[in-house]
Amino acid sequence: MARVAINVDHVATVRQARLAGEPDPVTAAALAELAGAQGIVVHLREDRRHIQDRDVEVLRRTVKTKLNLEMAATDEMIRIALAIKPDVVTLVPEKRQELTTEGGLDVMLYEDSLRAPIKMLHDGGIAVSLFINPDPKPIKTAHRLEADYVEIHTGSFAEARTFSKRQEEFDRVVTSARLARKLGLGVHAGHGIDYQNVFWLRGLAEIEEFSIGHAVIARAVLVGMERAVREMIELVKG
Ligand code: PXP
Repeated sequence: MARVAINVDHVATVRQARLAGEPDPVTAAALAELAGAQGIVVHLREDRRHIQDRDVEVLRRTVKTKLNLEMAATDEMIRIALAIKPDVVTLVPEKRQELTTEGGLDVMLYEDSLRAPIKMLHDGGIAVSLFINPDPKPIKTAHRLEADYVEIHTGSFAEARTFSKRQEEFDRVVTSARLARKLGLGVHAGHGIDYQNVFWLRGLAEIEEFSIGHAVIARAVLVGMERAVREMIELVKG
């Protein structure tokens, strides 16, 4: 069975909506681990829209499974990663205007400029994953760059609205995962995986880890709603 790593960015999104202390993504990460998550993922964005530096620092001290830090390959982020030393860094593209990471990293275009950051992370004892689209070219490039893992972008698969499109996108994921494994890369998959579409992916032996955020946080809000409201009503009753 593939490992399930939980991305807690959106717990921080709720916190930042009020610039308050709650809900704390560190507490959410601890609860996710208690529930069996085998990894915790956070994306420290350049604009700090959700996860803050403090979150990554505290998570490094508290996460008992594996901490995977998603980030852009900028000098600032490399410096932070080398200081904090997450178990894995996933390099992702980042645009200020986007709602979420929109596409895989263009590793072909940036092959030369990715070499030094990857080496620095490796020298710092950190495994490197590259978030890439499900195509052979980026996978071969990731292999040339000596990445430890690729994370296959499952967004197009997840967003497919017809069965034939979903099948087509699923086939791309399968072919990519097989090629990556053949080249000796570890295979993660993430983006848009939810309670409906995970049935397609769960049987793929090549995928060793799923990185899932939005669907789980969205469900946590809803399944926790009744209890939270009941608790407040009890308090008001006195
Ligand atoms: N993997 C990467 C590289 C991501 O950027 C994201 C989104 O933060 C995820 C996985 C999780 O995607 P989702 O929130 O849609 O589950």
